[in-house]
Amino acid sequence: MSGKSRPDLRVSTGGGRGGAERRGRKDADPEAPRTVLFLKLCILTHPFGESHSTRASFRSGQTGVLALGRKRQSGVPFSRLAYMTIIPQGEPDLDNNVLPREMFEHYGQTEEATRLLDGSGELEKVRTWDILNRHLPRPPAVVLDIGGAAGVHALWLARKGYEVHLVDPVPHHVEQALAASNAQPDHQLASCEIGDGRRVEKADGCADAVLLLGPMYHLTNRADRLQALREVYRVLRPGGVLFCAAISRFASLLDGLSRDRVSDPDFVEILRRDLQDGQHRNPTGNREYFTTTFFHHPRELHREIEDAGLRFDKTIGIEGPVWWMANFSHHWGDPAKRELLLGLLEMVEEDPSLIGASAHLMGIARKPQ
Ligand SMILES: C[S@@+](CC[C@H](N)C(=O)[O-])C[C@H]1O[C@@H](n2cnc3c(N)ncnc32)[C@H](O)[C@@H]1O
Repeated sequence: MSGKSRPDLRVSTGGGRGGAERRGRKDADPEAPRTVLFLKLCILTHPFGESHSTRASFRSGQTGVLALGRKRQSGVPFSRLAYMTIIPQGEPDLDNNVLPREMFEHYGQTEEATRLLDGSGELEKVRTWDILNRHLPRPPAVVLDIGGAAGVHALWLARKGYEVHLVDPVPHHVEQALAASNAQPDHQLASCEIGDGRRVEKADGCADAVLLLGPMYHLTNRADRLQALREVYRVLRPGGVLFCAAISRFASLLDGLSRDRVSDPDFVEILRRDLQDGQHRNPTGNREYFTTTFFHHPRELHREIEDAGLRFDKTIGIEGPVWWMANFSHHWGDPAKRELLLGLLEMVEEDPSLIGASAHLMGIARKPQ
């Protein structure tokens, strides 16, 4: 990957208790074209963050400290700075460094902070937390949540005593995570930054565990996914564990059949391509049909993890076949039925003949000792 495009607008709570340090930065490429960007700056001197929006013209690759504020707050044992770099948006360039504009548009129209609160989103969260509980080292340990969005998982882990560092390219998500972190002053995130999983600005070997729950389906190009996985390899300590989520190749098929979306010829066109090569594209404008992404066959996820040098452990179906169960929300609302469903899911979660029936897959791997 060239140094032309850097992960950009950066907001940091100032670092953790020593686990994850920032790497050095390159200077901006003076030859890089100037890009007009929408910058939303979150100034961290306010307990809940103040948002400031502006338009600015910068060179791709330019980074810098904005020095927006520096203040000690009660209960916050470190000073805070807001940093700024630039995340270019738009069509991928030749190096595939640019994150797709439609991803930013998608997250401008949907709400990650509440997505996991009910229905199949809650099933995804409950199962993800159960899988993490069973496979994470005990706290205290350093966890990087790359693609952590509004911090639902990161904040829960911080409450459990982990030192959690969150990275996400969507400024709005990072602002939400910061506000939520400030709202749990005894269990704040150690850091919360805008950045790209393909170039994580953390030190080699700093993490006991990495969550990569999102970037693998937003990175539609295999080389980019491998780059993100190699970054995980770099930041994990030997023996450290990766949790890597993917969307199943068969998610649209099962969704389309169970909700009769296959009656819509536009949906069927999207579905055919998903099944052919996993490249999910939605030119319809219908938000329900998701955004530009890549849907993995379980075999592909396994192979990509190993190709990055990590030692593959297993793939677990997160929601298994439960998410497309008839009247799922009704059953999920019944505590006894919910327990039954979760127990059945755990029985089949690793069965290779069934994991593709899940909406999300969870690959678990370790950095060799
Ligand atoms: C569906 S959300 C999942 C959020 C959360 N990890 C979860 O499991 O609920 C996917 C997240 O991945 C982030 N993402 C997309 N591309 C990324 C990249 N290249 N590097 C890091 N994060 C990325 C998005 O901004 C978004 O917040």
